[in-house]
Amino acid sequence: MAKPRKKRSSTLTSPSMQILRDKDSMRAWSRAQKALGRTVGFVPTMGSLHAGHLALVKEAKKRADVVVTSIYVNPTQFGPNEDFTEYPRMLDADAKKLTGVGCHALFAPRDLYARSGPPHETWVDVTDLTQTLCGSARPGHFRGVTTIVTKLFLIVEPDVAIFGDKDYQQRRVIQRMTRDLDIPVEVVGMPIQRDTDGLALSSRNARLLPDDRLMALAIPRAIAWAQDAFAKGERRVKVLKKAVREQIEASGPRVDYIEIVSDATLLPAKGKLTKPAVLAVAAYAGDVRLIDNVELR
Ligand code: PAJ
Repeated sequence: MAKPRKKRSSTLTSPSMQILRDKDSMRAWSRAQKALGRTVGFVPTMGSLHAGHLALVKEAKKRADVVVTSIYVNPTQFGPNEDFTEYPRMLDADAKKLTGVGCHALFAPRDLYARSGPPHETWVDVTDLTQTLCGSARPGHFRGVTTIVTKLFLIVEPDVAIFGDKDYQQRRVIQRMTRDLDIPVEVVGMPIQRDTDGLALSSRNARLLPDDRLMALAIPRAIAWAQDAFAKGERRVKVLKKAVREQIEASGPRVDYIEIVSDATLLPAKGKLTKPAVLAVAAYAGDVRLIDNVELR
């Protein structure tokens, strides 16, 4: 009888994209590219990829010779009551999407924290820029983000890394971190990519029930209203914040925060806006936490 062919445990193969499952092979791949004189672009993600992520990959391809995307759902950036276990995971489908946009390598480590021996005890903290917005709403979140991004930068050793402005504070915090720690990577921001109905694309949108998704549209609507009101001359912080809150709450989402912060410090703006600012919103549609923002300048 013919021997049964060995079954592959996963369809994770691609003719044109390298899939690297551990940090040593990732680092070796990156260094081999550099030895060939190529620059390395990098897009860190937590997977469940959508057109927003893919726009970052396309931008990275314009800025570097080869592009690495990482997929790792980082446990240390989730709070104890957050959605770490429910966070969508779909590695095979993600690998196909990345192949489709010509990504050169996928770094999908099984784990990035020590599993044996002494526990992980080293953290990177950006102190001031993380005091507001998601930093205060999600204690410990940015410490987890900056620590994992530092680890990823040290493994991938990219020349340029692309971050989306949907997570505006995150992009700013990473830029401050690379400057403060002299990490030799250029961090570039990409505008928010939206669905046709205006909702900012997010991996978490997949968890929205149909009614909650409709309700969630109040967030981009209110943000667009504020941008328009600002363009027409409204500068009063209180007036803008109150109207945005009322519009969102009237449609159902539960507001986590609505804040207008100085673009320079990310500290709350007061009185009338005289300098560039950012309006940022975090709200729950059902049990899904969504964020969105717009620059007011
Ligand atoms: P994740 O939420 O998967 O997002 C990965 C990158 O995609 C981030 O830079 C994010 O800002 C960007 N992104 C997501 N939705 C976007 C949209 N609609 N438009 C533009 N860019 C968008 O952010 C993380 O993962 C993690 O915190 C990570 C940096 C990977 C560290 O674990």
